[in-house]
Amino acid sequence: MALCDWHELHGETFAGKKALITGGAGFIGSNISEALLTLGAEVVVIDDLSGGLVSNFDTFKDQYEKEFTFIEGSILNDDLLNQALEGCDYVFHQAAWGSVPRSVTMPVEYNENNTVGTQKLLQAAVVHKVKRVVFAASSSAYGDSVKLPKVEDMPVRPKSPYAANKIACEALMRAYANCYEIDTASLRYFNIFGPRQNANSAYAAVIAAFAKALDQDEQPIIFGDGGQSRDFTFVDNAVHANLLAASAKKAINGEVMNIACANRITVNQLATNMASMWGQPHIEAIHKEERAGDVKHSLADLSLAEELIGYKPQVAFEEGLDATVAWYKEVFAAS
Ligand SMILES: NC(=O)c1ccc[n+]([C@@H]2O[C@H](COP(=O)([O-])OP(=O)(O)OC[C@H]3O[C@@H](n4cnc5c(N)ncnc54)[C@H](O)[C@@H]3O)[C@@H](O)[C@H]2O)c1
Repeated sequence: MALCDWHELHGETFAGKKALITGGAGFIGSNISEALLTLGAEVVVIDDLSGGLVSNFDTFKDQYEKEFTFIEGSILNDDLLNQALEGCDYVFHQAAWGSVPRSVTMPVEYNENNTVGTQKLLQAAVVHKVKRVVFAASSSAYGDSVKLPKVEDMPVRPKSPYAANKIACEALMRAYANCYEIDTASLRYFNIFGPRQNANSAYAAVIAAFAKALDQDEQPIIFGDGGQSRDFTFVDNAVHANLLAASAKKAINGEVMNIACANRITVNQLATNMASMWGQPHIEAIHKEERAGDVKHSLADLSLAEELIGYKPQVAFEEGLDATVAWYKEVFAAS
């Protein structure tokens, strides 16, 4: 399913290594899991299925029966965490509740799941002598600061409990790298999209939601005037960044870096493009009231990720969108 050739990019780096992917039944985590298995790693996934799906393992679980273990449960459960971390070299920490608007309605529960869960994971990772934890941070940390592109030394301005959780977790990553025998890295993802992103949730991300609407001959919904712009990033770029961060030779010491494509388009433009790609150019989006916590513009500077881990985007937005639309068409046709 991946557009990248993982062997060409990462060679033998992960052969024989063991990795835990928290939230590995989710969109990004399942793509990381599949890439690692392709590269000869042993993979353990812990996921409570609060957002993920076991069907996300369908393309690889039979082929890698011996190398792949799924533990159903929460990272808040210490016993399960200890079981999952046994012998792991790396952790790719993707588990979190993701929706910004839902975090506004459930701030305390979000903090427990996303922030406390992350600290429990770090505690256990230290005990199990994990080499490096790579954390799924978020561009929502920048909030509405008007300066573009976003550079990592800009002050954080969380607009939602979700963004505040992510910033708290970045701080924990840095503190643990500083105080204990473990290395960590935080990757601030910018609007990741691609195969396996859930289109059926009430809080679906924009590309997934547009795909579902167009498939049902419905008008996609845009919150706000649609002039908001995003640095949409195909999932293979996020997977590549995770693999680079895990295998970096030098300590990363909890540094935070942007992961994106360094290009942006508006949500209006995206809706027009996707309607054409669906062969439904006459379908126009409906506009609804802007949502609390949503940011206006987003565009990444990628210099730091290139300097620290050698990250460069591998798949351009248009190529990724073509592959994603093709994937949704296939999945919707089969369901
Ligand atoms: N998709 C994006 O554009 C984006 C952008 C910035 C950051 N992120 C972060 O990347 C990570 C992965 O996002 P995704 O888009 O794949 O979302 P996703 O919802 O598909 O995956 C998250 C997974 O975490 C699991 N999970 C949640 N809480 C858990 C817990 N307590 N214990 C075990 N599993 C738990 C869910 O069941 C789900 O499978 C998340 O941390 C998200 O906040 C995503």
